[in-house]
Amino acid sequence: MKGLIPAAGSGTRLGPFTHAMPKELLPIGDKAVIEHVVEAFVAAGITDITIVISPKKHGLSDYFGSGKRFGVNLTYVVQDERLGLANAVAAGEHVINGSSFSVVLGDNFFAPNTVLRNLKDFHQENEADVTIGVVEVYDVTRHGIIRTDGINVVDLVEKPVADEAPSKLGIAGMYIFEPGIFEAIRNTKPGYKGEYQLTDSIKVLVEQGARVIYKKIAGIHIDVGTPEDLMRANEFYLKESVRSV
Ligand code: G1P
Repeated sequence: MKGLIPAAGSGTRLGPFTHAMPKELLPIGDKAVIEHVVEAFVAAGITDITIVISPKKHGLSDYFGSGKRFGVNLTYVVQDERLGLANAVAAGEHVINGSSFSVVLGDNFFAPNTVLRNLKDFHQENEADVTIGVVEVYDVTRHGIIRTDGINVVDLVEKPVADEAPSKLGIAGMYIFEPGIFEAIRNTKPGYKGEYQLTDSIKVLVEQGARVIYKKIAGIHIDVGTPEDLMRANEFYLKESVRSV
């Protein structure tokens, strides 16, 4: 299995820091946000990883280089225009090259770092086409939200208005895909904010009868989009590190 990390977003809400550096390089404890993601890939036995960057985010390749120092083999691809998460994933299609792959967003923080391995195992045990990591969320308007039936996902909506959310189960920025997702991305129409949303591409697969399942993340998930999120992630991480000293 390969890995793909979308890291092309602008990080507007984390300005002015993000005027000078990619938001994925902001620190959580002693490591960049995205370095925690890379560690989760290593813990899941996935070391062949593609990072999708935007033309202005070469700071990421300066930080990681070939990935050797981090125990991974990295390829960088550039998403030329910010056309949505599905479009960012599609930018890596030639590197994924027909393999199963896991996507973890480069600005999301998870702990413990075994949650990705658990999601991958669950995907393989159930021979799914797509497996989505989810969490119970307070603010449905900040997430993709799923409707479920048993372990199956039967509907998905990207950032619904509060009273139209099909549940409180929010997509946690961690997914496992079979390569069929790329065809679904090609069949995806622009959605929320006029962008190509990965949530809508997964819905294309649901409508075609593919096996799309979900698993609740047994741990913490923070989408590091604002200074408050960054503080919360640091507070959690530093407390945990002190406990393990
Ligand atoms: C993305 C996804 C959304 C998911 C979220 C998790 O949104 O589109 O479905 O719930 O990540 O962080 P973004 O935060 O990039 O707007």
